[in-house]
Amino acid sequence: MLIDIIAGARPNFMKIAPIIHALQARTKEGGPLRYRLVHTGQHYDTRMSHDFFVQLRIPQPDVNLEVGSGSQAAQTGSIMVRYEELLLKSPPALCLVVGDVTSTLACAITAKKLGVAVAHVEAGIRSGDITMPEEVNRIVTDSLTDWFFTTSDVANANLRRAGFGEEQIFFVGNTMIDTLLANMDRLERPAFFAELDLVPHRYFVTTLHRPANVDRGDGFSQMLGAIARGARDLPVVFPVHPRTAKTLRALGELPANVHLVEPQPYLQFNWLVKNAFAVITDSGGITEETTVMGVPCLTLRDTTERPETIDIGTNVLVGTNPEALAPALETLFAGDWKRGGIPPLWDGRAASRIVEVLEQLLVQK
Ligand code: UD1
Repeated sequence: MLIDIIAGARPNFMKIAPIIHALQARTKEGGPLRYRLVHTGQHYDTRMSHDFFVQLRIPQPDVNLEVGSGSQAAQTGSIMVRYEELLLKSPPALCLVVGDVTSTLACAITAKKLGVAVAHVEAGIRSGDITMPEEVNRIVTDSLTDWFFTTSDVANANLRRAGFGEEQIFFVGNTMIDTLLANMDRLERPAFFAELDLVPHRYFVTTLHRPANVDRGDGFSQMLGAIARGARDLPVVFPVHPRTAKTLRALGELPANVHLVEPQPYLQFNWLVKNAFAVITDSGGITEETTVMGVPCLTLRDTTERPETIDIGTNVLVGTNPEALAPALETLFAGDWKRGGIPPLWDGRAASRIVEVLEQLLVQK
């Protein structure tokens, strides 16, 4: 019985890796499920894609739709056309999508229209901010999903409230955390660390790539200034996403304590986070990793789809106003940051739970 596993953009790769490994392990034991890994090509750079496959031991994709860059509508359309061709030639029993990127949405729509069942990993999370493309992707994908694999009780409640049945919702934990825990002993110090004279626990890590933060040069410049000042005498390591790089090029000189580096491979990036004094970010996934590693995290967004990182974890929602950063950093430098705990089922075993459920749903029904 064949399952398509869809991956398209960087935050998908750490979510599919443990599912593939769990399927491979079951196959060795005589399990009935087989997979076909479909890479849409939404992210295609070595640093945004290939490095993750190598480091996370993800096998070569069986199919690459090679859509490349474009507007979201253009990417969605191309993925749909190319994935439809594949499905018409050889339909799987299930299309499994993860996360909330353009590829997630495009493949869920295409599969559903051809009568292929859809499973969504990381289903049910909501920021409530419909101006985020990811929120549109979450809502539409979930509206077409047959089986929901969730990371939190808040996600379960969101799905129940939307009218989905209890028998469709499976609270399994977090595959992104499976990957983190599986790789904790393999994390690698990046080469630039010594070159920049950085010292463990005496630097910040920053990532910014959301359109709201980086697409307007003046706002971005103010935010970067606030981060640099707020960090006091500590260096700020900033791995730059390709989208952010475009705006940065136009900004001119940057504060002296801000060090721009290339997008980091998985093992290097998480080494940096694990050993940081704190992280300042507008990412969602990173707030989960900082929570599990117990590293303080300041999120430069007004909403989050991952409230457990705030209620249970080390994350604080600072907002998008640069002036809000200073008081949060006061708390941090005063040593008063909350300690945080680990959300339920973020224990490294989500993927094996998913495979167990899929066997029951697809084979023993
Ligand atoms: C996408 C996801 C976002 C995720 C982010 C992480 C959607 C709607 N958004 O946003 O949820 O947090 O990835 O990386 O899917 N580019 C490259 N090389 C690449 C890929 C992209 O240079 O390998 C360039 C593109 O040409 C484009 C920019 O980066 O100019 C943005 O890429 P895109 O995939 O469109 O969206 P992201 O902003 O990365």
